[in-house]
Amino acid sequence: MKNPLTPKWLETASDLSALDARIWPRTAGRTERGEISIGSIPASELVRQFGTPLYVVDQEDFEARLMMAKRAFSDAASKIGTTAKTYYASKALLTTDVVRWVDQADLSIDVSTGGELAVALAAGIDGSRIGMHGNNKSLVEIGRAVSANVGAIVIDSELEIERIASIAGAQDKIQPVRLRVNTGVHAHTHEYLATAREDQKFGIALVDVEEMVEKIRSHSHLKFLGLHSHIGSQIFVVDGFLAAAERLLDVHAKLLINGEVPELNLGGGFGISYTQADRPQELSELATRIANAVAQKCEALGIPVPKLAFEPGRVIAGPAGITLYSVGTIKDVAISDQGPAATRKYVSVDGGMSDNARPALYEAEYSALIASRESNHEGALSRVVGKHCESGDIVVRHCVLPSDIAVNDLIAVPATGAYCFSLSSNYNFLPRPAVVAVKQGSAHLLVRAETEQDLLGRDAGYVPGEV
Ligand SMILES: Cc1ncc(COP(=O)(O)O)c(C=O)c1O
Repeated sequence: MKNPLTPKWLETASDLSALDARIWPRTAGRTERGEISIGSIPASELVRQFGTPLYVVDQEDFEARLMMAKRAFSDAASKIGTTAKTYYASKALLTTDVVRWVDQADLSIDVSTGGELAVALAAGIDGSRIGMHGNNKSLVEIGRAVSANVGAIVIDSELEIERIASIAGAQDKIQPVRLRVNTGVHAHTHEYLATAREDQKFGIALVDVEEMVEKIRSHSHLKFLGLHSHIGSQIFVVDGFLAAAERLLDVHAKLLINGEVPELNLGGGFGISYTQADRPQELSELATRIANAVAQKCEALGIPVPKLAFEPGRVIAGPAGITLYSVGTIKDVAISDQGPAATRKYVSVDGGMSDNARPALYEAEYSALIASRESNHEGALSRVVGKHCESGDIVVRHCVLPSDIAVNDLIAVPATGAYCFSLSSNYNFLPRPAVVAVKQGSAHLLVRAETEQDLLGRDAGYVPGEV
């Protein structure tokens, strides 16, 4: 009898130990003993060294994804006679080593706070390769960005024009800037809304852009690069990007009447597979369609094709990361009003919403496998939950795990490389897990795990020695 709690999209794989290449990092596989390994290191070995929960980044996959993204945008741009700059959106996953990978792959990097800027600079990337975002940058943050000679600051409001101009003036610099535009297009995964998202905090309304650019151009310490838009995240289809690009180019063309507009930045948001039901379009395909649409629109408007820029984050970091957890408790919960077959296996792990906030924040779906061994037992509809004091503390809402899942098994959740470590918290005073990079049989720490002492150390009333 089918379990009525199974969502329509969830298929039971014929092999519950198999790794779907669309979801797992490129070096993930099973060892002879049946364990999941990444970068040729078995999960149990990583856990022995670094404990659980543990964020594991497949460095080879991350680096390949940086190159893949750069190539996708550059190739698409060169086919329409222009160039594309690719900024890695560091909010997805940021450590100094990650910045070094970005640097070595010759991408630029987008930061959105003084903290992210500090990490990028600490890693030694040149300021000219940094784009600075943020809808409420402090004067100190702007000052640091200007003195680091960042390649672009993205202006998000009229107030920032004066602020950046006067700080650049005080430092006797000419600061390149873009203007973030709220195109009214909001895209999310499968669909986009062309008008319904004017009511949000980012950017300048389309109708105000010409006036704002005039103001920017009136400042001798600012250099206007072009318009910017970011229409959302986890986008699978191209329509929203095309709608946003067309709207931007209509204004871009008007701006050309009074001065140069060398660039157009179309942001990030390219989607990935979190479960076997997710089928995003290939990045190269999306990039080509966007670039072609830009070229067509420019031809229709009779304007030169600008240089393009993009800011992918998730599509680089997401699939390269997995999280390892240990199973602590297991419960079969019967949902009595849904019929006799309606049971869900609740598998509690030693992390949760503090290391992956996305299911609680966005009802994001993930998938999971037993990492420490293979199993040929039949599947049981399961929910992987954390150890926090919230019923919404869910790691994987719907998955099918082997029915012999047991205490102390290791569970691996793939596609957690983006927006998991970066959104992590200390809720319930849980120390945040380590982030470790694996490559060709060796593992190295990107960020060490927090300890309770780290957390207590911030408590001004704590008397050392009491715990
Ligand atoms: C301005 C901007 N650019 C790029 C990104 C990266 O988006 P994604 O990781 O979905 O590619 C974001 C994400 O919020 C963003 O706000």
